[in-house]
Amino acid sequence: MELINWLLLILACVGFVLGFGVLKRLNNLYYALKLGKKWDELPPGDLAWPFLGSTLSFLKYFTLGPPHDFIGHFSKRYGKVDMYKTHMFGKPTIIVCKSEICRQVLSDDGTKFVPGYPSNMKALFGKKSLHGVSKAEHRKLRRLTTTPISGHAALELYIDHIEQTVISGLEEWSSMEKPLELLTVIKELTFKIIWNIFMGSTPIEDISMSEMENLYNDIAVGLFSLPLNFPGFSFQKSLKAKRRLHEILQSIVKEKRLVKKRKMESWEAKDMMDLLIEVRDEDDEGIDDETIVDLIFGMLFAAQESSAVTTMWATLFLTDNPHVFQKVKEEQEDVIKQRPPTQEGINLSEIKQMKFLSQVIDETLRASNISFAVFRETTVDVKINGKIIPKGWKVLLWLRELYMDEKLYPSPQHFNPSRWDDFIGNPGAFIPFGLGIRMCPGRDLAKLKISIFLHYFCHNKYIMMLERKYRVERLNPQCQLNYLPSPQPKDKCLARVLKAA
Ligand code: HEM
Repeated sequence: MELINWLLLILACVGFVLGFGVLKRLNNLYYALKLGKKWDELPPGDLAWPFLGSTLSFLKYFTLGPPHDFIGHFSKRYGKVDMYKTHMFGKPTIIVCKSEICRQVLSDDGTKFVPGYPSNMKALFGKKSLHGVSKAEHRKLRRLTTTPISGHAALELYIDHIEQTVISGLEEWSSMEKPLELLTVIKELTFKIIWNIFMGSTPIEDISMSEMENLYNDIAVGLFSLPLNFPGFSFQKSLKAKRRLHEILQSIVKEKRLVKKRKMESWEAKDMMDLLIEVRDEDDEGIDDETIVDLIFGMLFAAQESSAVTTMWATLFLTDNPHVFQKVKEEQEDVIKQRPPTQEGINLSEIKQMKFLSQVIDETLRASNISFAVFRETTVDVKINGKIIPKGWKVLLWLRELYMDEKLYPSPQHFNPSRWDDFIGNPGAFIPFGLGIRMCPGRDLAKLKISIFLHYFCHNKYIMMLERKYRVERLNPQCQLNYLPSPQPKDKCLARVLKAA
């Protein structure tokens, strides 16, 4: 009897595995029939499970690690090639792992390739965010939103506030007796800076800055979760947080419009939201409240997570590599030596002279893989390198694979800012801020903010002319990482920030 039970159990298991194998084959067959002859011209790969495709495998490798095994799994089966086909985030997908093809895709003017973010990201970003609009509307809104966050004049305006926020943040953290979550406090600091640039010092009723920052964190969790809007699922929590933050932004726009009306001629735009309220196009039309809220919301989101996480990794890389820390410090001392005695604080031209510091930031963006991929979708069939990407398929430019490519970056796991000394890379080999018409409009601001932070972390000569630097002592230096939405230690980098001699 027991033998029969065992046999039945084994048969059930075999049936289960075969059943799923059949489903996978049927899914591939469905697309093969749909595409006809074109199917043979697709890159190698596997469409995997119906509906789910490789999404579960992606989530597994990006939550439990190691993330490079996700592509490793394809290259083991199909060889190391430029592109693979699969099915991800609800759509048939081509994953691109070659720098020249990434460049080709991003250089398109928005005719063949449009943004192709997963459906939950689209829902969370909003239809009128820069990520959501296309063609003429994108061009127009981009023009209006880029000026306040890029260019010398705009950046000069923000230095003082960034500097003061960073100095007081570092002082506060280093005087705390208990360990802190370094990532959490850097996110709070980044949020304060970005909020001030976008919204100025507009008071917000009934909600503190850290509560707002928590709303943002709740939204971030849903970006790559399963798009299930049911109780208990991260996506539902994210949608709820998004609604609340939208309400807050809406009330700020309303308040600002009232102030503008009241002050009339004496009203002056002081931040990005003011500029968006004030701006008129060629037909003398302004931007409606809903669009302003979506734009600011998308900007805040794009700005917050990536620059906070980059700042944290740069700080940790400097701490773990004392020779790099020392070189950064020496560069800063050289630049500051030439400062006139009357000048207080750092300025933009000094930051521009800090070439090695800029290399530290580039190397951090490469080695930590902040944005693992850029998302596109085809509007027509596109032929690249002899392979077809069918119309309506997603195209994932897998930046992570480029940055960890031994041929492009020898010893890629090694943090080595000097590799950028005379670096001449392949076109498209280093595109942490994207390329082309959708290249990150906040890249200069992000680099400015990170540079000021690292400057005061390594060499703080501001406070009462006392020289001060800091160091980070992690409580769990071997802590495992989470890779979504961006790589970060699971303990949020529990650490002490210490003043160093
Ligand atoms: C280290 C920090 C940052 C990284 C790594 C980063 C990365 C990127 C990348 C790769 C893109 C291109 C996406 C695509 O082509 O689909 C992008 C777009 C964008 N970024 Fe950033 N970003 C950073 C900071 C910022 C900041 C500080 C802001 C705002 C102040 C910002 C605002 C945006 C916006 C609005 C877009 C969409 C542009 C469009 O679609 O036209 N980002 N970013």
